[in-house]
Amino acid sequence: MIIAIDGPAGTGKSTIAKMLAENLRGGDGSPFTYVNSGNLYRVITLGCLRQGIDPRDPEGVLGYAKKAPVMYKNGRLYLGDEMVEPLLHGDDIDRVVSPLSAIVPVRHVVNDHVRNIARGLNAVVEGRDMTTVVFPGAEYRFYLDASIRERAKRRFQQGFSRLSLEKIETSIAERDTLDSHKEEGSLMVAPGVIYLDTSDLTLTEVYDKLIEVIQDNTLEG
Ligand code: DC
Repeated sequence: MIIAIDGPAGTGKSTIAKMLAENLRGGDGSPFTYVNSGNLYRVITLGCLRQGIDPRDPEGVLGYAKKAPVMYKNGRLYLGDEMVEPLLHGDDIDRVVSPLSAIVPVRHVVNDHVRNIARGLNAVVEGRDMTTVVFPGAEYRFYLDASIRERAKRRFQQGFSRLSLEKIETSIAERDTLDSHKEEGSLMVAPGVIYLDTSDLTLTEVYDKLIEVIQDNTLEG
């Protein structure tokens, strides 16, 4: 079973997706895998920056993305032998990950990674185009949203960024614009997805709403 969740930055979708994957079990008791597709764009960005490749150079980035030693081990994202998850949310990566993720053939490399990781498994996958491009036929498709102010506040409180609240808000707004105007894989509310505005909800409330939908339908099915 695939549960796909899309939405802009700061809506809590990574935390919610992780909670769902940890708590859900398939009909035969098998666990769920959690896939954060944004982290795949981030790890390619990290690798490019380290190798001196301009993240806006389509050919340079694609050449790197195709051979980048990116893999999941025990549910953790590695670049070669290094577990890089703690390095992926700094301002240096935030600044350039969106333009990098707009390079269409790079999206195809990431999409292949996501599909390969999830193949044959129960998975909760999250990002910007999981419900539209990568898994349009997923059993459950959700779109999580929140006001830009609330999303900036959440990011500020996470403590990854050195920017002020106002600057974070501007940077999120810029990324939203880029992410919603991509040639392929643009962020959008697809027909048929379940839309939830999380601005005034706690993580537990969001989690409960999603679980309710999944369990109600699973019981009916
Ligand atoms: O979810 P995130 O903020 O970690 O994503 C990082 C960037 O990657 C963001 O600018 C949007 C982009 N992205 C994308 O284009 N498609 C996805 N499926 C996931 C992320």
